Amino acid sequence: METESRIRSRISRPCLPRPGLLAWILSTAVRLAPTGWKFYNRSIMLRKTISDNVSVVVPDDFQYAWAGAKEIRFMDAHPEATSSTAYERRIQRGDSCLCLKKDGELVGYHWIAWRSGCLYCGFGAKQEIVFLPLRQNQAFTYDLYVYEAYRGRGLGTLFRKIMLEALRRKGIKEVFTLIDPENQVPLRLNLRFGYEPLCMVYSFRIRQWSTMLFGPRDDKRLKEWIEALEPSTQRQ
Ligand SMILES: CC(C)(COP(=O)(O)OP(=O)(O)OC[C@H]1O[C@@H](n2cnc3c(N)ncnc32)[C@H](O)[C@@H]1OP(=O)(O)O)[C@@H](O)C(=O)NCCC(=O)NCCS
Repeated sequence: METESRIRSRISRPCLPRPGLLAWILSTAVRLAPTGWKFYNRSIMLRKTISDNVSVVVPDDFQYAWAGAKEIRFMDAHPEATSSTAYERRIQRGDSCLCLKKDGELVGYHWIAWRSGCLYCGFGAKQEIVFLPLRQNQAFTYDLYVYEAYRGRGLGTLFRKIMLEALRRKGIKEVFTLIDPENQVPLRLNLRFGYEPLCMVYSFRIRQWSTMLFGPRDDKRLKEWIEALEPSTQRQ
């Protein structure tokens, strides 16, 4: 049973910024639109400046490597695959995938876009939304995934370190990512690595039509919401 003080702190927790009037109108339009491929998403954009070496100690039985055709085939065929064609399409877009392996078997992957941010990336032109054109020393990371059987053993954390070091070696100075505020495990993980909340992002699609709205930078409500997360979430 929750204690009274926990219930009170939950009720008094700051709320996420409210979408503006235009976002509200568009989300209503998505809701009312006839069936078909449509969505309304709310995410937090996070940014991290990469400056220093990250000290990564990879246990002996783990290896990491950029994905090749063999790894993409494995991911496509895996029962947890988000789509059996998305990975190949991501490669065709010019994105890269870093793989984490245990004793040679793929246990997780993480995608990097070099040219622009992308939502529903790889799902086809009718679904994905391309945004945030990137400069040469910037990257957008997405779809950090550890297969279910391997979760909760520190691999997500290890993989985040490996990714930051791999990006630093490629000359990347700034990295962006989008996180669903409900998806607290990766949100906390990123915050612990010093990712800063940049703004709220609202995305809309109704069939061929799509758009994205960006909330203000340095949004006080977003900062308060992040600060009110459990202490373990705060940056190291
Ligand atoms: C996010 C993800 C990669 C984390 O992988 P993981 O190997 O479980 O990560 P770790 O074991 O390093 O755990 C990271 C932290 O989350 C916590 N955590 C892990 N699973 C959790 C769960 N189910 N509930 C609550 N906390 C959890 C861990 O305790 C750890 O916190 P700590 O550092 O304070 O101990 C994995 O959950 C995943 O693949 N999720 C699905 C895909 C996804 O949502 N990706 C991110 C958005 S693109």
